[in-house]
Parts: sequence; C-alpha cells; structure tokens
Amino acid sequence: MIISILNMKGGVGKTTTTLNLGYALAQQGYKTLLIDNDPQGNLTTGIGIEEYEQTVTDTYLNGILPIHQLSEKLHVIPADITLSTVYNELSNKVDANFRLFKSLKAVNKDYDYILIDNRPDAGILASNSILASDQFMYLVKSGDAYSLNGILTFEEIIEEQVKPLLELQGRNINLLGVLINQTKNTNVSQHIEDQLVDYFKEKVFDTKVRINSAIQEAVVLKISVIEHAPKSNGALDFTTLAHEVVKRTKGKKATIQTA
Ligand SMILES: Nc1ncnc2c1ncn2[C@@H]1O[C@H](COP(=O)(O)OP(=O)(O)OP(=O)(O)O)[C@@H](O)[C@H]1O
Ligand SMILES: [Mg+2]
Repeated sequence: MIISILNMKGGVGKTTTTLNLGYALAQQGYKTLLIDNDPQGNLTTGIGIEEYEQTVTDTYLNGILPIHQLSEKLHVIPADITLSTVYNELSNKVDANFRLFKSLKAVNKDYDYILIDNRPDAGILASNSILASDQFMYLVKSGDAYSLNGILTFEEIIEEQVKPLLELQGRNINLLGVLINQTKNTNVSQHIEDQLVDYFKEKVFDTKVRINSAIQEAVVLKISVIEHAPKSNGALDFTTLAHEVVKRTKGKKATIQTA
C-alpha cells in the first residue's frame, strides 16, 4: 500500500506526519518504508540519517533504491538537494512521471506501508509520487485557510489528470483521509474544520493532531515524538492515527502490480 502525503501549502505538517505516522505503524508491527521526496530533505535529517551515498535522486535517474534500515520494521530512502536537478534531467523523458512507480514495483510487496513525503509543489516529483500511489492523504493545518486551498488544487489535478492516466493502466487511486494538524480552539479553526467536513465528509480523519511542543523537540533530537516523549499528546495522537490508518486500509488490495 503506497500512500502520498500531500498539500501545496508549505509548513502544514507533511514531514512531521510522514515521520511519526511511519514510526507508529512500524511500532505496531507493520513493515514500513518512508520515502523522502523533497529536496529540502527534512524527513531525512528529521529521522537522523546523516550519512548516505545515494538518495532518491538515484531512484529517479537510475532506478536504484537506496534503502536505509533504521530498524527491522522501519526503512527510509533519503533525499537531498540534488533532487531538485531531476526536473531538468527528466524533462524530455517519456516516462518522466512514472519513474517512482517503476522503481517501487520491485519492493511494494515487501512492505505493509510505503509513505511518500512531498514538497509543497505540484510538479514532477509530486506527479511521480501520486502516480506510484494507491492512496493519498491530505494534511491541513488547523485555522489555515491557505492550506485548504492547497489541497483543492490537488483535487483538480487528481480528478482531471491523474485518474484518467491511471485508468489507462487499469489502476486507481483513493483519498485515504484528510488529517487536521495543529488543532486549535478558535472560531476560524472550527469554521475551516466545518468546511472540510462539508466537502470531504467521513474522509476527514477522526484523529486530529494537537499542537504539542514535544513534536518540535523531537525534530531537534532527530527522532520521532513517540521515542522522545511516549506519553505526550503528540505520541498519543500519531499512535491513534496509525490505528485509524490501519483500520481504513485493512483488506484493501494494492492495485500496483508487483514485478
Ligand atoms: N502538531 C504539531 N505541534 C507542534 N508543532 C508542529 C506540529 N506539526 C508540525 N509542527 C511543526 O511545524 C513545522 C512544519 O512542519 P513540517 O515540516 O512537518 O511541515 P511540512 O508540511 O512538511 O513543510 P514543507 O511544506 O516545508 O515540507 C515544523 O517545525 C514542525 O515541527
Ligand atoms: Mg516537509
């Protein structure tokens, strides 16, 4: 099951969620691969990978999967700034949007979950992520109307461009859920949450992630919040989210074909 984490808006919690949800899934016994698909490399540094020779750039350019095994159940493919060069390198290649899809075919069956963290952008990296995925997940920052706009852009792209392309391959992609992050008790936050529920109905996750300083401390320590402060609200919320993700994906078969 390959899941893209998306929003065009920056700083809404995509990387935080990929990292901590991934850690929680692995802790619950699911073999999980995290892919850093952002030249900022925040997931890579945030999870404590400091030494690497190859990155996801090599996946795009040469089909190599440089997998770091952080533990038996949690694996990561890192990224760095060289990822920003693939735009130019792939611009005239016919399969430019399917590079991740092709490479992940080989390992999809080895994992229960593959989570792809994306940069705030709808370019070639995001299209590779979406076209490789079975499901996608939107991140919204509570009270941030711009982050709502940032997912509506993807709605259009996925409905009008992605789904027709996937249909040609006999594949499909579904919205796994909309996660509200950094919840606040303000009127504007409530208003935006109401709008989200009106539009996405039951797709809005029951689990919300509260603002929690332990989440930020864990970033500095380069570990997950679950390791840093297992009793914090942040650890609790991501553990609960992992249960909800498992519940929502149980029994769903991946449409991606294994090689
Ligand atoms: N629930 C939370 N409580 C407290 N801080 C949070 C929470 N979620 C995210 N943050 C903080 O907000 C900042 C932005 O989060 P993050 O880097 O995950 O966003 P992003 O969507 O990946 O950003 P970008 O678009 O740049 O990739 C980080 O400093 C992170 O620690
Ligand atoms: Mg990020």
